[in-house]
Amino acid sequence: MFVAFEGIGGSGKSTVAGKVFNWVAEQGSIDFVSVREPGGTPHAEFIRNLVNTGFPGLEDAAKLDPMGVALLFNVCRVDLTNKVIRPALAQNKLVITDRYCDTTFAYQSVFNGLHMLDLIKLHDDVIGLYPKWTYLLDCPGEIATTRVSEEEKKRDQFDRAGVEKQEGMRQAYLQLAERNPGRYVVIDATQSQETVAEQVISHLRDSIVLWKGGDYIYSSQMPG
Ligand code: TYD
Repeated sequence: MFVAFEGIGGSGKSTVAGKVFNWVAEQGSIDFVSVREPGGTPHAEFIRNLVNTGFPGLEDAAKLDPMGVALLFNVCRVDLTNKVIRPALAQNKLVITDRYCDTTFAYQSVFNGLHMLDLIKLHDDVIGLYPKWTYLLDCPGEIATTRVSEEEKKRDQFDRAGVEKQEGMRQAYLQLAERNPGRYVVIDATQSQETVAEQVISHLRDSIVLWKGGDYIYSSQMPG
C-alpha cells in the first residue's frame, strides 16, 4: 500500500510523518519503506540540491524555464518510483512518502505558473502511479509561514515564497482534495502535532487492516 504526506512548508508535515513512521516501526509486523521527495536515490538526491536551492550562482535572468523545473522534479520522481517504490509495492510492502506528485501539481502550478492539468498529464504519461491515500496537512498560509525558520528559507526557494503564494499552494491542494475525495484525507494542521499524528495513525491503522485483510486491491487512480 502506498501513502503520501502533503502540505505547504510550515504545515508540520515532516514532523508528523516522522511520528507516523515511528508508529509503523513500533508495530513490528508491518514491512515498510519510507522515502522523501525529491530524493531517495543517489541521482534524485543530487538533483534535490539544485531544485531546492534554485541553482545558486546563476542570476535571475538565467532562471530555469518553469516546465524545466517541473521536469526536474519528475526526473527525481521517476527514478525513485521505478527503483524503490514499485519494487517495494511488488513485494507487498507499505510505502510512505513525504511528498509525491501532488506537490508538483500544487507548487509548480502556483509557484512556477504552469497549468495544473499539464502537470497531471505529464505525471500520467511518465509515471502514472498515485498513492492509495494522500494525507494533506492543511494549514493557512498565514500560520504556516510563521513556522518556517530563516534557516529553512535560506535552503529552500519555495519556503521563501510569501504568504500569498503559500496560501495559493494551500488552495491548490484543497482543490485537488475536493476533486479526489477517494484518495485525499484532509487534516487540520493548526491542531497540535500530537493530535494531527493521532488522526493520521487512526486512519492508517484502519487502512492497513483492510489492506492486510485482502479487501484492498491496489490501483492507480486518475485525479478528477
Ligand atoms: P524539503 O526540504 O523536503 O521541504 P519540506 O520540508 O517542506 O517538504 O524540500 C522540498 C521542497 O521542494 C519543498 O519546498 C517543496 C518543493 N517541491 C516542489 O516544488 N515540487 C515537487 O514536486 C517536490 C517533490 C518538492
